[in-house]
Amino acid sequence: TKKITIAIDGFSSTGKSTLAKQLAKHLGYIYVDTGAMYRAVTFFAMKQGYINADAFDSTTLIASLPSIRLHFEFNAELGFAEVFLNDVNVETEIRTIEVSRFVSKVAEVSQVRAKLVEQQKEMGKNKAIVMDGRDIGTVVFPDAELKIFMTASASTRAQRRYDELVAKGDAVTYEEVLKNVEERDYIDTHREDSPLVMAVDAIEIDNSHLNREEQFAQVLEMVNDIT
Ligand code: C5P
Repeated sequence: TKKITIAIDGFSSTGKSTLAKQLAKHLGYIYVDTGAMYRAVTFFAMKQGYINADAFDSTTLIASLPSIRLHFEFNAELGFAEVFLNDVNVETEIRTIEVSRFVSKVAEVSQVRAKLVEQQKEMGKNKAIVMDGRDIGTVVFPDAELKIFMTASASTRAQRRYDELVAKGDAVTYEEVLKNVEERDYIDTHREDSPLVMAVDAIEIDNSHLNREEQFAQVLEMVNDIT
């Protein structure tokens, strides 16, 4: 069977990464979570004091970009690759609500996008990859053989993210999570550089009422039709 590129885009917490991981595992493909890359850069900016609730010094962040190295390492126990920032595993640090609060601001910066997109293209040059994000089908892999655009209602998505955070022991409220999901969606769809839009040749899947098995079966059929 032929190796293809699978691009999965959509709003926050639509279950993109769940689907992408399932597909990658089943097909023996590489899975790349591009949101983790934007989150790692955001975590770096927070740590350096370039971004907080009151200010964002994007100029200094841009100047520091050459000192930021990201890579992924497969964790066999977890079954997916964890993200490393300058050789330090930051998988836990990037999943907090604080990082979620600032990440869309950082992701608006063109120089940040250019750096990450270049690395993403490089990772996909041999195909056999499933990548999820916001601009994968439109910017990173416009020639991907299969493009999925995932949607779900904001309340379904906020409930999922809330359950995830609570399961980790984060003290958050549902309202706070819903507000964050809505704010990020707004910024992601309205930014000038690579806004979140569905590629013209993408297939939309609304999974508000689909369970993960049904969703996986649907997409696997699409993959089998191509390969
Ligand atoms: O997918 P996740 O929710 O972890 O992504 C976090 C944020 O990173 C998104 O809200 C978006 O602002 C940004 N992002 C992006 N382009 C991507 C992936 C993520 O702008 N390809």
